[in-house]
Amino acid sequence: MLAPSTYVPPTLTRVSTERLRSEAATAFNAFVKAAKAGGVNVRAVSGYRSYAQQQSLYHDYVLRYGQETADTLAARPGHSEHQTGLAMDIGNSNGACALQACFADTPVGRFAASEGWKYGFIIRYPAGAQAITGYTYEPWHLRYVGKELAGSLEAWKASNPADLGALERYLGLEDAPDYVP
Ligand code: DAL
Ligand code: ZN
Repeated sequence: MLAPSTYVPPTLTRVSTERLRSEAATAFNAFVKAAKAGGVNVRAVSGYRSYAQQQSLYHDYVLRYGQETADTLAARPGHSEHQTGLAMDIGNSNGACALQACFADTPVGRFAASEGWKYGFIIRYPAGAQAITGYTYEPWHLRYVGKELAGSLEAWKASNPADLGALERYLGLEDAPDYVP
């Protein structure tokens, strides 16, 4: 949980229609540029979200799907990586498979999975890892962790396939802990 729950990052830089912490924004711009050079057009869909924005998003999910399912799709307010300014949801410029698992098989999804780490980004909620991360597969959710950690995680992933590339396992953290009431 972020402390205080109303945490706001110290620096927020505009990236397209979104905002990220400045170091993540610089890395994201490099990622987008490299993709474009390969003919892949990345769209920035959702970056920094305030506590209030996350509260309203989470609330919508609860109304739509019920709390149990909502908790596998969206973080509760005060718990989202988006509130840190270090996460960006990405899409294809033509909107193909937006925020769906099939995004993984689109040009932007493939580029993110194979090249993202070189720019310091990881796919934070990998396929089949819900019991570890707490969330269903989100091939569009990039988390900036810096090039060093992203690079070591990439190498570790290859030699530890059973851990499914989950950051929790890499860092030796508890699997998907419950919310503290
Ligand atoms: N969809 C991710 C888990 C979030 O809401 O932060
Ligand atoms: Zn996200």
